[in-house]
Amino acid sequence: MASRTLFGMVPVMLALSACASSGASVASDADVAQKSAALADRFQADLQGQLQAAMQQGGPVGAIAVCHEVAPALAQSLSDESGAQVRRIALRQRNPAALAEGELRAKLETLAAAPLGPDGKPASLQWTSGTSKAARVHYLRAIPMKEQPCAACHGTNVAPQVQARIAELYPDDRATGFRPGELRGAIAISWPASVGQ
Ligand code: HEC
Repeated sequence: MASRTLFGMVPVMLALSACASSGASVASDADVAQKSAALADRFQADLQGQLQAAMQQGGPVGAIAVCHEVAPALAQSLSDESGAQVRRIALRQRNPAALAEGELRAKLETLAAAPLGPDGKPASLQWTSGTSKAARVHYLRAIPMKEQPCAACHGTNVAPQVQARIAELYPDDRATGFRPGELRGAIAISWPASVGQ
């Protein structure tokens, strides 16, 4: 498995060696960026599809259960399938497991300052942490707050019955009061650094 991956990378490394001092890391960064973007797209599309269907069926109160169950399950199945750790994180969280700490928090603050890139799409960041075998490559993509459908459950004027249901499931909820355009959170994907090398 490892050697097959290595052989697969050789032509890319040769092609890059003319313009980069470290072909392997450039190739691997591009590989991680591409794989991460594909995972983030799927996470987003699946979740939004299910959320939309649930909102149409049962309104926001009914749809809370979908977010509660589907979002963590989707993150888990994408993690199992890819070998990366896939999750959602936030500076002000609903699910306690989403609270970003340490380095992740600092990076998320960078995205909060500019949730959209120059192309108008959600901004992303990629970096490597740790050394040698423990190194991991991290990818973050901003999830900007929108009016529809997000405000019903994360906005500045959440209906009392929605608020009550959220409080039942998330007694320490901190994820309301967001305005459109603000950073609501991010999809965080981290890979063992050897992926793609
Ligand atoms: C029907 C209510 C509802 C709607 C509408 C909704 N969310 Fe959420 N959101 C939730 C719930 C419940 C969770 C906690 C899910 C969990 O347990 O992982 C959550 C969690 C999140 C998280 C993960 C971080 C955290 O705080 O736990 C992000 C990011 C997020 N929502 C963004 C959005 C965006 C962007 C929209 C609009 C596209 C949206 N949500 C619409 C209910 C909702």
